[in-house]
Amino acid sequence: MPASPIRADLIIRNAQLIDGTGAPPVGGDLAIAGDRIVALGALPAGSSAPSEIDARGKVAAPGFIDPHTHDDNLLLSDPAMTPKVSQGVTTVVAGNCGISLAPLTVAGAPTPPLDLLGDAGVFRFPRFADYLDQLDQTPPAINAAFLVGHMSLRVGCMDRFDRPASAAEIAQMAQRLDDSLAAGAIGLSTGLYYKPSEAAPTDEVISLAKVAKRHGGMYVTHMRNENDRVMSALDESFAIGREAQVPVVISHHKVIGKANFGRSAETLPFLAERAKRQPIGFDVYPYIASSTVLSVDRFNASQRIIVTWSKQRPEVSGRDLADIAREMNTSIEIAAAALQPAGAIYFMMDEDDVQKILKADGAMVGSDGLPHDVFPHPRLWGTFPRVLGHYARDLQLFPLHEAVHKMTGLTAGYFGLRDRGVLRVGAFADVVLFDPATVIDRATFQAPTQPAAGIELVLVNGKPVWRDGAATGARPGRALRRATLDKPMGGWRPARGTTPAF
Ligand code: ZN
Ligand code: CU
Repeated sequence: MPASPIRADLIIRNAQLIDGTGAPPVGGDLAIAGDRIVALGALPAGSSAPSEIDARGKVAAPGFIDPHTHDDNLLLSDPAMTPKVSQGVTTVVAGNCGISLAPLTVAGAPTPPLDLLGDAGVFRFPRFADYLDQLDQTPPAINAAFLVGHMSLRVGCMDRFDRPASAAEIAQMAQRLDDSLAAGAIGLSTGLYYKPSEAAPTDEVISLAKVAKRHGGMYVTHMRNENDRVMSALDESFAIGREAQVPVVISHHKVIGKANFGRSAETLPFLAERAKRQPIGFDVYPYIASSTVLSVDRFNASQRIIVTWSKQRPEVSGRDLADIAREMNTSIEIAAAALQPAGAIYFMMDEDDVQKILKADGAMVGSDGLPHDVFPHPRLWGTFPRVLGHYARDLQLFPLHEAVHKMTGLTAGYFGLRDRGVLRVGAFADVVLFDPATVIDRATFQAPTQPAAGIELVLVNGKPVWRDGAATGARPGRALRRATLDKPMGGWRPARGTTPAF
């Protein structure tokens, strides 16, 4: 007996379906009803929908998941989320690098690097639940899951940051973290590299990671060191995961500074080896330049510095620090001090390391975009199409379906994003339709806020948020709570060997 026809809200016909699991493309149709995928492949004859799209020559894939963002405030201040939807991103993880918008209130200007999230006044949610409630009331275009930042806890619970937290301060931070995880946050993040956190000993982090463990949470870290001492920083991160029995994600994995070029040959085998013993993941952005606050400490490792914003001299945004210093007739150190507080882009990685890390088994694509910078690093607008168009299609670093896996199914598995990151009957209809022949990033270091090419349609929970090169204005995104998700790295497997799990 032939299957009965499907009545859907939207049918995408004749697409190349890349399902996000790492499987190669197959031709077929995709039917969506409400917020879910209801049929996939060859639809029964007579199936129809009020809206049908002929997608011949196009790829339909799960909407991309950006595991490394600083979109905490953008989700509220610019809910259209254009830098993300224009790339095909349908879910972000916020609260990375130890910096989360909640739970924290700050009266004046936020301490750097908390100011990556915005100006005075943005830190206004004393409880994590208040922040999530606000997102429910004024939803963004895309979904988001949330980490609680160790730095935000420190800034809220300590009077100075150049020392370890006392037992009483750790207890207070643990209480705030516990409340936040109970409200729905999915784990703890740290930025041990940064001034407000660098005096925190490993034990302070372990105490807090143990709180995350009680809620089935994870540990995500911008490590203490990504240059000369990158191996010991990896070791510390893994030890925290083992002591607290939580999965670990290494943020924006890289090796920086000329002296360390080529050292992905050390870090990647180490990651792979340890991943046989404990759940470990990592994300990476596809550029040889990093971006964060402007800091003199970073100068030695960098060949070129572009200023992304400056409170003292807003007009220099987008210019080279060396040129600014020359004009001021002074050193770059003195020029940098005169611009504070400020942000910058640092050219300090080796293209070969970037490619090896991107290609590595288990590497997720993440943007680390900084949405409040005046002249942002192009990763904010370009990361995902750059991996698809530049690295997969043009350089053939890996097949397209593997590139898609690194930004969908792999990521959903690491973070436990239930029914997302995959094209499957019953999964949420977070879908991107793109042209594999033309998809490419257009954001550059000279013109960093250009939308990508080739992203034709983006659906979040079944609703179009990007169509014909423009945001639709729909806001179907959801604040994802821990209780509605799967165990992080629950289905996690290292490439080879056994399957450790906590
Ligand atoms: Zn970071
Ligand atoms: Cu970051």
